[in-house]
Amino acid sequence: MARRRMVYEGKAKILYEGPEPGTLIQFFKDDTTAGNGEKHEMIDGKGVLNNRLSEHFMSGLNAIGVPTHFIKRLNMREQLVRAVEIIPLEVVVRNVAAGSMSKRLGIEEGSPLPRPIVEFYYKNDDLGDPLVTEEHIIAFGWATQQDLDDMVALALRVNDFMSGMMMGVGIKLVDFKIEIGRVYEGDFQRLIVADEISPDSCRLWDLKTGEKLDKDVFRRDLGSVSDAYTEVAKRLGVMPRQN
Ligand code: C5P
Repeated sequence: MARRRMVYEGKAKILYEGPEPGTLIQFFKDDTTAGNGEKHEMIDGKGVLNNRLSEHFMSGLNAIGVPTHFIKRLNMREQLVRAVEIIPLEVVVRNVAAGSMSKRLGIEEGSPLPRPIVEFYYKNDDLGDPLVTEEHIIAFGWATQQDLDDMVALALRVNDFMSGMMMGVGIKLVDFKIEIGRVYEGDFQRLIVADEISPDSCRLWDLKTGEKLDKDVFRRDLGSVSDAYTEVAKRLGVMPRQN
């Protein structure tokens, strides 16, 4: 069998050329990194869990009309996705103060925010993904005002959907990051959710105990990462099977 052409390798995923034009195969690795790659470990089975969890979130979003790149899961570690032109921004939505917002603004972790807050970070490893304003984004041509309006609307819809789904299984969606890409349909472009949605890219706290069930377990050495991610998968009823 011919070797597949690798299109891109990131810290936690690899993209291969897909079977049809306009598609890619997204492979989930066990590599886990924090601090822009400074801390790096292999966590056995993490890629399998994130493949399942991202499938669960993205197919749910597709079903309610929030467009994503997800087409179908292919196997334990791979999914078929639409190829997109990634906008070089990380879009973060926060419901509760935590992480870099708590540090930057001196707000105690766990303080509820008056409303969901959407932030943009410029995707650039060398610069450590700095926070940017809408002014920077438009002035430097990373997106237009219309794109920004669409990105905020998309991010808030993802927040509503994900918050409700997690609340239903006793988990608070504290914050999350998504990436958004452009697809071209005839003369039109559309923005769709790309990359992944998983405990690597969300903060998830148990509603009753406050226990962290996300990548902060790895970042802050709080215990077993696979136990935390498995707990999320179990509660959502998406435990991986051998297929
Ligand atoms: O570190 P910070 O508090 O800004 O992270 C906000 C949210 O974005 C967290 O859920 C974190 O997991 C996610 N994030 C991410 N990838 C990054 C930076 C943040 O998934 N490069």
